[in-house]
Amino acid sequence: MAKETLTVTDNRTGKKYEVPIENGAVRATELGQMGLVSYDPALLNTAVCESKISYIDGDAGILRYRGYPIEELAEQSTFLETAYLIVKGELPTTSHFRMWQHNIKTHTLIHENLKHFIEGFRYDAHPMGILIGTVGALSTFYPEAKQVMDLESRRVQTRRLIGKMPTIAAFAYRHSRGLPYIYPDNELSYTGNFLSMMFKMTELKYRPDPILEHALDVLFILHADHEQNCSSTTMRTIGSSLADPYSAVAGAAAALSGPRHGSANEEVVHMLHEIGSKDNVASVIKQAKSGEKRLTGFGHRVYKNYDPRAKIIKRIAYEVFEVTGKNPLIDIALELERIALQDDYFVTRRLYPNVDFYSGIIYEAMGLPVTMFPVLFAIARTAGWMAQWAELVTDEEQKITRPKQLYLGHDERPYVPLDQRRDGGALETEVSGPL
Ligand code: ACO
Repeated sequence: MAKETLTVTDNRTGKKYEVPIENGAVRATELGQMGLVSYDPALLNTAVCESKISYIDGDAGILRYRGYPIEELAEQSTFLETAYLIVKGELPTTSHFRMWQHNIKTHTLIHENLKHFIEGFRYDAHPMGILIGTVGALSTFYPEAKQVMDLESRRVQTRRLIGKMPTIAAFAYRHSRGLPYIYPDNELSYTGNFLSMMFKMTELKYRPDPILEHALDVLFILHADHEQNCSSTTMRTIGSSLADPYSAVAGAAAALSGPRHGSANEEVVHMLHEIGSKDNVASVIKQAKSGEKRLTGFGHRVYKNYDPRAKIIKRIAYEVFEVTGKNPLIDIALELERIALQDDYFVTRRLYPNVDFYSGIIYEAMGLPVTMFPVLFAIARTAGWMAQWAELVTDEEQKITRPKQLYLGHDERPYVPLDQRRDGGALETEVSGPL
Protein backbone atom coordinates (compact mmCIF):
# COMPACT_ATOMS: atom_id res chain seq x y z
CA MET A 1 0.00 0.00 0.00
CA ALA A 2 1.29 3.49 -0.87
CA LYS A 3 2.66 5.42 2.09
CA GLU A 4 0.48 8.36 3.21
CA THR A 5 3.44 10.73 3.41
CA LEU A 6 5.09 13.48 1.41
CA THR A 7 8.87 13.58 1.05
CA VAL A 8 10.39 17.02 0.69
CA THR A 9 14.01 17.83 -0.15
CA ASP A 10 15.34 21.21 0.94
CA ASN A 11 17.72 21.99 -1.92
CA ARG A 12 19.47 24.64 0.19
CA THR A 13 20.78 22.00 2.58
CA GLY A 14 20.11 18.70 0.83
CA LYS A 15 18.08 17.57 3.87
CA LYS A 16 15.08 15.32 3.32
CA TYR A 17 11.89 15.47 5.35
CA GLU A 18 9.00 13.05 5.46
CA VAL A 19 5.68 14.68 6.26
CA PRO A 20 2.48 12.73 7.06
CA ILE A 21 -0.60 13.21 4.87
CA GLU A 22 -3.94 13.07 6.68
CA ASN A 23 -7.33 13.58 4.99
CA GLY A 24 -5.54 14.81 1.87
CA ALA A 25 -3.68 17.50 3.83
CA VAL A 26 -0.22 18.15 5.19
CA ARG A 27 0.12 20.26 8.30
CA ALA A 28 1.65 23.66 7.63
CA THR A 29 3.35 23.41 11.05
CA GLU A 30 5.47 20.54 9.62
CA LEU A 31 7.24 23.22 7.59
CA GLY A 32 8.45 24.70 10.90
CA GLN A 33 11.09 21.93 11.30
CA MET A 34 12.42 23.03 7.87
CA GLY A 35 12.63 26.67 9.00
CA LEU A 36 9.79 27.59 6.62
CA VAL A 37 6.28 28.95 6.82
CA SER A 38 3.54 28.49 4.21
CA TYR A 39 2.58 31.70 2.39
CA ASP A 40 -1.07 31.77 1.35
CA PRO A 41 -2.66 35.23 1.03
CA ALA A 42 -6.47 34.93 1.09
CA LEU A 43 -6.07 31.29 2.19
CA LEU A 44 -6.46 29.95 -1.34
CA ASN A 45 -5.19 26.49 -0.47
CA THR A 46 -5.28 26.32 3.30
CA ALA A 47 -7.79 24.34 5.36
CA VAL A 48 -8.21 26.15 8.68
CA CYS A 49 -10.44 23.61 10.39
CA GLU A 50 -12.09 20.22 10.22
CA SER A 51 -15.82 20.60 9.66
CA LYS A 52 -18.89 18.41 9.31
CA ILE A 53 -21.40 21.11 8.37
CA SER A 54 -21.44 21.81 4.65
CA TYR A 55 -19.72 20.24 1.69
CA ILE A 56 -18.98 21.86 -1.65
CA ASP A 57 -17.57 20.31 -4.79
CA GLY A 58 -16.92 23.45 -6.81
CA ASP A 59 -16.01 21.64 -10.02
CA ALA A 60 -19.17 19.53 -10.02
CA GLY A 61 -21.43 22.32 -8.69
CA ILE A 62 -22.45 20.35 -5.58
CA LEU A 63 -23.55 21.77 -2.22
CA ARG A 64 -24.73 19.63 0.70
CA TYR A 65 -25.66 20.51 4.28
CA ARG A 66 -24.72 17.66 6.63
CA GLY A 67 -24.77 15.34 3.62
CA TYR A 68 -28.17 16.37 2.25
CA PRO A 69 -28.15 17.82 -1.31
CA ILE A 70 -29.20 21.47 -1.41
CA GLU A 71 -31.71 20.65 -4.16
CA GLU A 72 -33.58 18.18 -1.90
CA LEU A 73 -33.60 20.59 1.03
CA ALA A 74 -34.84 23.45 -1.17
CA GLU A 75 -37.56 21.20 -2.54
CA GLN A 76 -38.75 19.49 0.65
CA SER A 77 -37.48 21.24 3.78
CA THR A 78 -38.24 24.55 5.48
CA PHE A 79 -35.73 27.12 6.66
CA LEU A 80 -36.29 26.36 10.34
CA GLU A 81 -35.88 22.63 9.77
CA THR A 82 -32.72 23.25 7.74
CA ALA A 83 -31.42 25.56 10.48
CA TYR A 84 -31.96 22.69 12.96
CA LEU A 85 -30.08 20.34 10.64
CA ILE A 86 -27.18 22.76 10.30
CA VAL A 87 -26.97 23.56 14.00
CA LYS A 88 -27.63 20.08 15.43
CA GLY A 89 -26.23 17.84 12.68
CA GLU A 90 -29.37 15.76 11.99
CA LEU A 91 -32.87 16.37 10.67
CA PRO A 92 -35.29 16.67 13.60
CA THR A 93 -38.00 14.17 14.52
CA THR A 94 -41.54 15.61 14.68
CA SER A 95 -41.37 16.22 18.43
CA HIS A 96 -37.87 17.72 18.30
CA PHE A 97 -38.93 19.99 15.46
CA ARG A 98 -41.98 21.16 17.39
CA MET A 99 -39.77 21.95 20.37
CA TRP A 100 -37.20 23.74 18.17
CA GLN A 101 -39.93 25.88 16.57
CA HIS A 102 -41.28 26.73 20.01
CA ASN A 103 -37.80 27.59 21.30
CA ILE A 104 -37.01 29.88 18.36
CA LYS A 105 -40.41 31.58 18.55
CA THR A 106 -40.04 32.34 22.25
CA HIS A 107 -36.96 34.37 21.31
CA THR A 108 -38.38 36.59 18.58
CA LEU A 109 -39.04 39.63 20.78
CA ILE A 110 -36.24 42.09 21.44
CA HIS A 111 -35.73 44.20 24.57
CA GLU A 112 -37.50 47.56 24.32
CA ASN A 113 -34.17 49.32 24.94
CA LEU A 114 -32.88 47.73 21.75
CA LYS A 115 -35.79 49.32 19.90
CA HIS A 116 -34.71 52.72 21.27
CA PHE A 117 -31.14 51.89 20.29
CA ILE A 118 -32.31 51.40 16.68
CA GLU A 119 -34.14 54.73 16.85
CA GLY A 120 -30.76 56.37 17.48
CA PHE A 121 -29.70 55.63 13.90
CA ARG A 122 -30.31 58.32 11.28
CA TYR A 123 -33.46 57.87 9.20
CA ASP A 124 -31.34 57.03 6.11
CA ALA A 125 -28.93 54.62 7.84
CA HIS A 126 -28.20 51.51 5.78
CA PRO A 127 -30.10 48.60 7.39
CA MET A 128 -26.98 46.43 7.23
CA GLY A 129 -25.18 49.00 9.41
CA ILE A 130 -28.13 48.98 11.81
CA LEU A 131 -28.10 45.18 11.92
CA ILE A 132 -24.36 44.99 12.58
CA GLY A 133 -24.52 47.59 15.37
CA THR A 134 -27.65 46.18 16.97
CA VAL A 135 -26.50 42.56 16.99
CA GLY A 136 -23.25 43.70 18.60
CA ALA A 137 -25.27 45.61 21.21
CA LEU A 138 -27.16 42.39 22.09
CA SER A 139 -24.04 41.15 23.89
CA THR A 140 -24.61 43.82 26.56
CA PHE A 141 -28.11 42.43 27.19
CA TYR A 142 -26.90 38.87 27.68
CA PRO A 143 -23.59 38.99 29.58
CA GLU A 144 -23.88 35.27 30.34
CA ALA A 145 -23.21 34.67 26.63
CA LYS A 146 -19.53 35.00 27.53
CA GLN A 147 -19.76 31.44 28.89
CA VAL A 148 -18.90 30.09 25.48
CA MET A 149 -17.68 26.75 26.83
CA ASP A 150 -21.06 26.10 28.43
CA LEU A 151 -23.32 23.96 26.21
CA GLU A 152 -26.60 25.28 27.61
CA SER A 153 -25.43 28.87 27.14
CA ARG A 154 -24.42 28.14 23.53
CA ARG A 155 -27.84 26.63 22.89
CA VAL A 156 -29.72 29.60 24.33
CA GLN A 157 -27.67 32.16 22.40
CA THR A 158 -28.20 30.18 19.18
CA ARG A 159 -32.00 30.18 19.64
CA ARG A 160 -31.91 33.86 20.56
CA LEU A 161 -29.88 34.85 17.54
CA ILE A 162 -31.92 32.83 15.03
CA GLY A 163 -35.10 34.14 16.67
CA LYS A 164 -34.13 37.81 16.90
CA MET A 165 -32.35 38.41 13.59
CA PRO A 166 -35.61 38.80 11.57
CA THR A 167 -36.99 41.18 14.22
CA ILE A 168 -33.88 43.39 14.18
CA ALA A 169 -33.84 43.27 10.36
CA ALA A 170 -37.51 44.26 10.05
CA PHE A 171 -37.16 47.02 12.67
CA ALA A 172 -34.17 48.39 10.73
CA TYR A 173 -36.37 48.55 7.62
CA ARG A 174 -39.36 50.13 9.39
CA HIS A 175 -37.02 52.70 10.95
CA SER A 176 -35.76 53.73 7.50
CA ARG A 177 -39.37 54.21 6.36
CA GLY A 178 -40.51 56.01 9.51
CA LEU A 179 -43.08 53.26 10.00
CA PRO A 180 -44.19 51.93 13.40
CA TYR A 181 -42.48 48.72 14.44
CA ILE A 182 -44.51 45.55 14.12
CA TYR A 183 -44.03 43.00 16.88
CA PRO A 184 -43.58 39.32 16.03
CA ASP A 185 -46.63 37.21 15.25
CA ASN A 186 -45.69 33.74 16.40
CA GLU A 187 -48.73 32.14 14.81
CA LEU A 188 -47.01 32.65 11.47
CA SER A 189 -44.08 30.66 10.08
CA TYR A 190 -40.55 32.00 10.58
CA THR A 191 -40.59 33.58 7.12
CA GLY A 192 -44.27 34.60 7.30
CA ASN A 193 -43.60 36.40 10.57
CA PHE A 194 -40.68 38.22 9.00
CA LEU A 195 -42.89 39.38 6.11
CA SER A 196 -45.50 40.50 8.64
CA MET A 197 -42.93 42.56 10.61
CA MET A 198 -41.78 44.10 7.31
CA PHE A 199 -45.06 44.85 5.56
CA LYS A 200 -48.01 44.84 8.00
CA MET A 201 -49.88 48.13 7.91
CA THR A 202 -53.26 48.68 9.59
CA GLU A 203 -54.80 45.26 9.06
CA LEU A 204 -55.45 43.29 12.25
CA LYS A 205 -53.68 40.20 10.98
CA TYR A 206 -51.08 40.07 8.21
CA ARG A 207 -51.48 37.09 5.91
CA PRO A 208 -48.41 36.51 3.75
CA ASP A 209 -48.91 35.30 0.19
CA PRO A 210 -48.01 31.58 0.45
CA ILE A 211 -45.99 31.63 -2.79
CA LEU A 212 -43.88 34.59 -1.67
CA GLU A 213 -43.53 33.15 1.84
CA HIS A 214 -42.33 29.87 0.35
CA ALA A 215 -39.95 31.61 -2.09
CA LEU A 216 -38.33 33.57 0.74
CA ASP A 217 -38.10 30.42 2.84
CA VAL A 218 -36.27 28.64 -0.01
CA LEU A 219 -33.93 31.61 -0.41
CA PHE A 220 -33.17 31.41 3.32
CA ILE A 221 -32.40 27.67 2.96
CA LEU A 222 -30.00 28.41 0.09
CA HIS A 223 -28.14 31.02 2.14
CA ALA A 224 -27.97 29.13 5.44
CA ASP A 225 -24.37 27.92 5.27
CA HIS A 226 -21.52 27.72 2.80
CA GLU A 227 -18.45 26.23 4.52
CA GLN A 228 -15.43 28.49 5.08
CA ASN A 229 -16.57 31.66 3.30
CA CYS A 230 -15.36 35.12 4.29
CA SER A 231 -18.02 35.79 6.97
CA SER A 232 -17.88 32.30 8.51
CA THR A 233 -14.10 32.58 8.67
CA THR A 234 -14.57 35.93 10.43
CA MET A 235 -17.04 34.28 12.84
CA ARG A 236 -14.49 31.60 13.63
CA THR A 237 -11.62 34.07 13.95
CA ILE A 238 -13.52 36.25 16.42
CA GLY A 239 -14.85 33.15 18.18
CA SER A 240 -11.30 31.85 18.59
CA SER A 241 -10.57 34.61 21.12
CA LEU A 242 -13.61 33.26 23.06
CA ALA A 243 -15.52 36.51 22.48
CA ASP A 244 -19.28 36.15 22.99
CA PRO A 245 -21.32 35.03 19.94
CA TYR A 246 -23.19 38.36 19.55
CA SER A 247 -19.88 40.18 19.04
CA ALA A 248 -18.76 37.42 16.67
CA VAL A 249 -22.01 37.59 14.65
CA ALA A 250 -21.64 41.39 14.41
CA GLY A 251 -18.16 40.82 12.95
CA ALA A 252 -19.38 38.10 10.60
CA ALA A 253 -22.20 40.36 9.40
CA ALA A 254 -19.66 43.15 8.81
CA ALA A 255 -17.65 40.76 6.63
CA LEU A 256 -20.85 39.83 4.80
CA SER A 257 -21.62 43.49 4.08
CA GLY A 258 -18.87 43.84 1.47
CA PRO A 259 -19.69 43.89 -2.27
CA ARG A 260 -17.49 40.86 -2.91
CA HIS A 261 -19.58 38.83 -0.46
CA GLY A 262 -23.13 39.38 0.81
CA SER A 263 -23.73 42.77 -0.73
CA ALA A 264 -23.15 41.44 -4.23
CA ASN A 265 -26.93 40.89 -4.61
CA GLU A 266 -27.46 44.61 -3.97
CA GLU A 267 -24.78 45.46 -6.52
CA VAL A 268 -26.29 43.10 -9.11
CA VAL A 269 -29.62 44.94 -9.06
CA HIS A 270 -27.86 48.32 -9.33
CA MET A 271 -25.83 46.93 -12.24
CA LEU A 272 -28.92 45.57 -14.05
CA HIS A 273 -30.76 48.90 -13.60
CA GLU A 274 -27.71 50.70 -14.94
CA ILE A 275 -27.59 48.41 -18.00
CA GLY A 276 -31.25 49.28 -18.50
CA SER A 277 -31.91 47.20 -21.63
CA LYS A 278 -30.81 44.01 -23.35
CA ASP A 279 -29.20 46.15 -26.07
CA ASN A 280 -26.56 47.42 -23.64
CA VAL A 281 -25.46 43.99 -22.42
CA ALA A 282 -22.65 43.58 -24.96
CA SER A 283 -20.93 46.78 -23.86
CA VAL A 284 -21.02 45.70 -20.18
CA ILE A 285 -19.46 42.37 -21.11
CA LYS A 286 -16.74 44.32 -22.92
CA GLN A 287 -16.07 46.44 -19.82
CA ALA A 288 -15.86 43.30 -17.65
CA LYS A 289 -13.38 41.73 -20.06
CA SER A 290 -11.17 44.81 -20.14
CA GLY A 291 -11.05 44.73 -16.33
CA GLU A 292 -12.85 48.08 -16.11
CA LYS A 293 -15.53 46.63 -13.85
CA ARG A 294 -16.49 43.20 -12.63
CA LEU A 295 -19.71 41.57 -13.61
CA THR A 296 -21.28 41.35 -10.18
CA GLY A 297 -23.05 38.08 -9.48
CA PHE A 298 -20.53 36.20 -11.59
CA GLY A 299 -17.62 34.11 -10.42
CA HIS A 300 -16.93 32.33 -7.18
CA ARG A 301 -13.85 31.30 -5.27
CA VAL A 302 -15.05 27.71 -4.99
CA TYR A 303 -17.60 27.11 -7.75
CA LYS A 304 -15.98 26.65 -11.13
CA ASN A 305 -19.28 25.42 -12.48
CA TYR A 306 -22.86 26.71 -12.28
CA ASP A 307 -23.62 27.58 -8.62
CA PRO A 308 -26.34 25.03 -7.70
CA ARG A 309 -28.12 27.71 -5.66
CA ALA A 310 -28.37 30.01 -8.70
CA LYS A 311 -30.16 27.23 -10.63
CA ILE A 312 -32.80 26.85 -7.90
CA ILE A 313 -33.26 30.61 -7.55
CA LYS A 314 -33.78 31.03 -11.29
CA ARG A 315 -36.68 28.57 -11.10
CA ILE A 316 -38.19 30.22 -8.00
CA ALA A 317 -38.08 33.60 -9.79
CA TYR A 318 -40.83 32.52 -12.19
CA GLU A 319 -43.05 31.29 -9.32
CA VAL A 320 -42.67 34.72 -7.69
CA PHE A 321 -43.43 36.54 -10.95
CA GLU A 322 -46.76 34.65 -11.14
CA VAL A 323 -47.78 36.67 -8.07
CA THR A 324 -45.89 39.93 -8.47
CA GLY A 325 -45.71 40.26 -12.25
CA LYS A 326 -42.42 39.88 -14.10
CA ASN A 327 -39.46 41.94 -12.97
CA PRO A 328 -38.10 43.26 -16.30
CA LEU A 329 -34.56 42.92 -14.94
CA ILE A 330 -34.83 39.15 -15.49
CA ASP A 331 -34.61 39.59 -19.27
CA ILE A 332 -31.44 41.64 -18.94
CA ALA A 333 -29.98 39.09 -16.52
CA LEU A 334 -30.78 36.17 -18.83
CA GLU A 335 -29.20 37.97 -21.77
CA LEU A 336 -26.12 38.76 -19.70
CA GLU A 337 -25.83 35.13 -18.67
CA ARG A 338 -26.39 33.90 -22.24
CA ILE A 339 -23.65 36.10 -23.72
CA ALA A 340 -21.20 35.59 -20.85
CA LEU A 341 -21.50 31.80 -20.92
CA GLN A 342 -20.54 31.80 -24.61
CA ASP A 343 -17.67 34.21 -24.20
CA ASP A 344 -14.13 32.92 -24.08
CA TYR A 345 -13.15 35.28 -21.23
CA PHE A 346 -15.80 33.81 -18.90
CA VAL A 347 -15.48 30.25 -20.20
CA THR A 348 -11.72 30.03 -19.67
CA ARG A 349 -11.93 31.59 -16.21
CA ARG A 350 -14.90 29.37 -15.40
CA LEU A 351 -17.05 32.32 -14.31
CA TYR A 352 -20.71 31.33 -13.87
CA PRO A 353 -23.65 33.10 -12.22
CA ASN A 354 -23.46 32.77 -8.43
CA VAL A 355 -26.21 32.78 -5.79
CA ASP A 356 -26.44 36.57 -5.87
CA PHE A 357 -27.08 36.91 -9.59
CA TYR A 358 -30.81 36.11 -9.46
CA SER A 359 -31.71 36.53 -5.77
CA GLY A 360 -31.88 40.34 -5.92
CA ILE A 361 -34.33 40.20 -8.85
CA ILE A 362 -36.72 38.09 -6.74
CA TYR A 363 -36.33 40.29 -3.68
CA GLU A 364 -37.01 43.38 -5.76
CA ALA A 365 -40.14 41.80 -7.31
CA MET A 366 -41.34 41.06 -3.78
CA GLY A 367 -41.07 44.74 -2.88
CA LEU A 368 -38.02 44.35 -0.68
CA PRO A 369 -35.74 47.38 -0.92
CA VAL A 370 -32.26 46.84 -2.33
CA THR A 371 -30.56 47.89 0.91
CA MET A 372 -32.28 44.98 2.68
CA PHE A 373 -30.74 42.32 0.43
CA PRO A 374 -27.57 41.71 2.47
CA VAL A 375 -29.69 41.84 5.63
CA LEU A 376 -31.82 38.95 4.32
CA PHE A 377 -28.63 37.03 3.64
CA ALA A 378 -27.49 37.68 7.23
CA ILE A 379 -30.77 36.36 8.71
CA ALA A 380 -30.32 33.04 6.92
CA ARG A 381 -26.57 32.77 7.43
CA THR A 382 -26.93 33.17 11.21
CA ALA A 383 -27.72 29.43 11.41
CA GLY A 384 -24.46 28.63 9.61
CA TRP A 385 -22.42 31.13 11.62
CA MET A 386 -23.65 29.65 14.91
CA ALA A 387 -22.93 26.08 13.78
CA GLN A 388 -19.43 27.07 12.60
CA TRP A 389 -18.79 28.92 15.86
CA ALA A 390 -19.98 26.02 18.04
CA GLU A 391 -17.84 23.60 16.04
CA LEU A 392 -14.84 25.88 16.59
CA VAL A 393 -15.17 26.40 20.34
CA THR A 394 -15.65 22.66 20.95
CA ASP A 395 -12.71 21.66 18.73
CA GLU A 396 -9.84 20.83 21.07
CA GLU A 397 -7.30 21.40 18.34
CA GLN A 398 -8.31 25.01 17.81
CA LYS A 399 -6.48 27.91 19.43
CA ILE A 400 -6.75 31.66 19.08
CA THR A 401 -6.33 32.48 15.37
CA ARG A 402 -3.03 34.17 14.87
CA PRO A 403 -1.51 33.86 11.37
CA LYS A 404 2.09 34.51 10.44
CA GLN A 405 3.32 37.23 8.12
CA LEU A 406 6.33 37.68 5.87
CA TYR A 407 7.91 40.90 7.13
CA LEU A 408 9.36 42.82 4.17
CA GLY A 409 9.70 46.23 5.84
CA HIS A 410 12.74 48.16 7.10
CA ASP A 411 15.47 46.65 9.23
CA GLU A 412 16.07 48.39 12.57
CA ARG A 413 16.80 52.10 12.14
CA PRO A 414 17.33 54.90 14.69
CA TYR A 415 14.61 57.47 15.43
CA VAL A 416 15.36 60.90 13.85
CA PRO A 417 13.97 63.94 15.74
CA LEU A 418 11.40 65.93 13.75
CA ASP A 419 13.56 69.05 13.19
CA GLN A 420 16.41 66.94 11.75
CA ARG A 421 14.38 65.08 9.13
CA ARG A 422 15.24 66.07 5.57
CA ASP A 423 13.44 63.50 3.44
CA GLY A 424 11.17 60.48 3.71
CA GLY A 425 7.52 60.61 4.72
CA ALA A 426 4.90 62.19 2.52
CA LEU A 427 2.59 65.15 2.77
CA GLU A 428 -0.80 64.11 4.20
CA THR A 429 -2.37 65.07 0.87
CA GLU A 430 0.09 63.14 -1.30
CA VAL A 431 -0.85 59.75 -2.56
CA SER A 432 1.75 57.24 -1.46
CA GLY A 433 1.32 53.74 -0.13
CA PRO A 434 -1.98 52.15 0.87
CA LEU A 435 -3.16 54.94 3.19
N1 ACO B 1 -16.32 39.72 -13.69
C1 ACO B 1 -15.25 39.77 -14.51
N2 ACO B 1 -14.10 39.11 -14.26
C2 ACO B 1 -14.02 38.38 -13.14
C3 ACO B 1 -15.11 38.28 -12.23
C4 ACO B 1 -16.29 38.98 -12.54
N3 ACO B 1 -17.35 38.93 -11.74
N4 ACO B 1 -14.76 37.48 -11.19
C5 ACO B 1 -13.50 37.10 -11.44
N5 ACO B 1 -13.05 37.64 -12.61
C6 ACO B 1 -11.75 37.40 -13.25
C7 ACO B 1 -10.64 38.16 -12.55
O1 ACO B 1 -10.44 39.44 -13.10
C8 ACO B 1 -9.47 37.24 -12.78
O2 ACO B 1 -9.02 37.41 -14.10
P1 ACO B 1 -7.44 37.35 -14.45
O3 ACO B 1 -7.05 35.93 -14.14
O4 ACO B 1 -7.36 37.71 -15.88
O5 ACO B 1 -6.78 38.33 -13.53
C9 ACO B 1 -10.07 35.84 -12.68
O6 ACO B 1 -11.45 36.01 -13.09
C10 ACO B 1 -10.02 35.23 -11.30
O7 ACO B 1 -10.59 36.18 -10.37
P2 ACO B 1 -10.17 36.29 -8.85
O8 ACO B 1 -10.51 37.66 -8.35
O9 ACO B 1 -8.77 35.82 -8.67
O10 ACO B 1 -11.15 35.21 -8.20
P3 ACO B 1 -11.50 35.09 -6.66
O11 ACO B 1 -11.74 33.64 -6.42
O12 ACO B 1 -10.49 35.75 -5.79
O13 ACO B 1 -12.83 35.92 -6.51
C11 ACO B 1 -15.09 36.58 -6.35
C12 ACO B 1 -14.11 35.40 -6.33
C13 ACO B 1 -14.68 37.58 -5.25
C14 ACO B 1 -16.47 36.05 -6.01
C15 ACO B 1 -15.04 37.23 -7.75
O14 ACO B 1 -15.43 36.30 -8.75
C16 ACO B 1 -15.92 38.49 -7.82
O15 ACO B 1 -15.47 39.57 -7.43
N6 ACO B 1 -17.19 38.35 -8.30
C17 ACO B 1 -18.10 39.46 -8.33
C18 ACO B 1 -18.66 39.71 -6.94
C19 ACO B 1 -19.67 38.66 -6.52
O16 ACO B 1 -20.56 38.27 -7.28
N7 ACO B 1 -19.56 38.22 -5.25
C20 ACO B 1 -20.50 37.25 -4.66
C21 ACO B 1 -19.83 35.92 -4.44
S1 ACO B 1 -20.96 34.76 -3.81
C22 ACO B 1 -21.17 35.18 -2.23
O17 ACO B 1 -20.34 35.72 -1.54
C23 ACO B 1 -22.42 34.89 -1.69
